[in-house]
Amino acid sequence: MSEAKRLAGEKAIEYVEDGMIVGVGTGSTVAYFIDALARIKDRIKGTVSSSDQSTERLRAHGIEVLDLNATGPLSLYVDGADECDPRKCLIKGGGAALTREKIIAEASDRFVCIIDPAKRVEVLGKFPLPVEVIPMARSLVARELLAMTGGQPVWRQTTEGQGVVTDNGNLILDIHNLSITDPTAMEQAINQIPGVVSVGLFARRRADVVIVGGEPPTVF
Ligand code: A5P
Repeated sequence: MSEAKRLAGEKAIEYVEDGMIVGVGTGSTVAYFIDALARIKDRIKGTVSSSDQSTERLRAHGIEVLDLNATGPLSLYVDGADECDPRKCLIKGGGAALTREKIIAEASDRFVCIIDPAKRVEVLGKFPLPVEVIPMARSLVARELLAMTGGQPVWRQTTEGQGVVTDNGNLILDIHNLSITDPTAMEQAINQIPGVVSVGLFARRRADVVIVGGEPPTVF
């Protein structure tokens, strides 16, 4: 799949215009986009990054990373996804960067999502839905998610058996066994639970353009 990810990441460069400040997501597909962006770095004003991981890669290429508070609205955001349905609603957060990703997506006029073909689904929910939570609310939120969705919330752990800590100092619950027929309603409902920082459902602010990596890439 890494070849498909590379093709999607490189295709997204076509959406970058001279003088832009580009919002940059997180993940292995975005890493290809960052590498391609490095080749035209002198044509852009800079980037806003959604994670420490992407910031590190951008800076290693000598690409400037700016504070979203200083840039104002962005013209373009490029990011991957864990699942994408035909209406361009997404599950994101497999890399635990969902909250900053959501903030930058919201701040951007155009969200270009780059995926490999395996990410396309008819109904979201096979990929466990990530929810970022304030640490003290972990059990409360897990109980409410169970009652609300019928899925099984699981506290995300590192390979060493520690709770994953996000760039914002919070925890992740992944909800397993969902079939999300109304992504907008579920996003709204989960956002109401006290202690939830954000949910990795991107329905209210979904992708505008989806690039599916292939030879040639498909765009819808
Ligand atoms: C990061 O938190 C995620 O939202 C990623 O965008 C998503 O997990 C896709 O990652 P890959 O490009 O590595 O598949």
